[in-house]
Amino acid sequence: MDKVNVSRLEHPGSWALDPASCRFLAAFARSLGARRVLEFGSGFSSLMLAREIEKLEGNLLLSIDDSPHYSALAKEAFETSDCGAKAEFRVAPLRPKLYGTRLLLSYALPKGLLEALGPFDLVLIDAPHHDYGRESVFYDAFPAVAPGGYIVLDDANRADMERSYINSWQAAYGEAMDPILLDGIGNGLCVIEKVSDAKPSYKKAGSLAAALKTARNFARFLTRPEDR
Ligand SMILES: C[S@@+](CC[C@H](N)C(=O)[O-])C[C@H]1O[C@@H](n2cnc3c(N)ncnc32)[C@H](O)[C@@H]1O
Repeated sequence: MDKVNVSRLEHPGSWALDPASCRFLAAFARSLGARRVLEFGSGFSSLMLAREIEKLEGNLLLSIDDSPHYSALAKEAFETSDCGAKAEFRVAPLRPKLYGTRLLLSYALPKGLLEALGPFDLVLIDAPHHDYGRESVFYDAFPAVAPGGYIVLDDANRADMERSYINSWQAAYGEAMDPILLDGIGNGLCVIEKVSDAKPSYKKAGSLAAALKTARNFARFLTRPEDR
């Protein structure tokens, strides 16, 4: 991690992935030899990840965000850099979607897109913005990750959000995933290995609370400021 110089990339501030988490993620991508990376939450981390994969053949960064504004800023930062990686920036609005009995906010992506552009060696979940909930992102990404690949969740120290999502994911995938919590790095990172392909069996408990939160968060999403 110490070999990754984040200040060279001018870390922009508190909305971005914490500097220690950036160093971990870059070092982790490098040690894995990750070629294909999927990112939810375009921004500072996008160029950082692109730089880690650029020398590897067949590389791809697919970066997804719900904000046209911030997606465009991240794309511009990438395009005006000297990074030679292949990167695709996609904007997808958030919409309610059922996962078993769980109604969750989910990125409205073209069906089959992630599987078509995968399999991915590494996924970063750093969005949608914390008010909107991140539980669905894992369910959408899991089939597009190569067995032996990794999903990294940021902000994993938040008990009533990310920690509860990790519990739901474990209930759904059991031994097909293997999570390790790194609570001392930044705001907490959860590094989850995809052990094998599996169909999820979504947790029924908590479905009503999840649906109510989704309704509230969807209303927030629809009424957010124009420039988000
Ligand atoms: C937790 S942030 C992290 C984004 C990205 N992974 C990073 O490290 O920069 C999540 C959200 O911040 C938003 N964002 C991106 N660039 C931003 C900026 N310059 N200022 C404020 N928010 C930004 C994006 O809409 C993104 O979904």
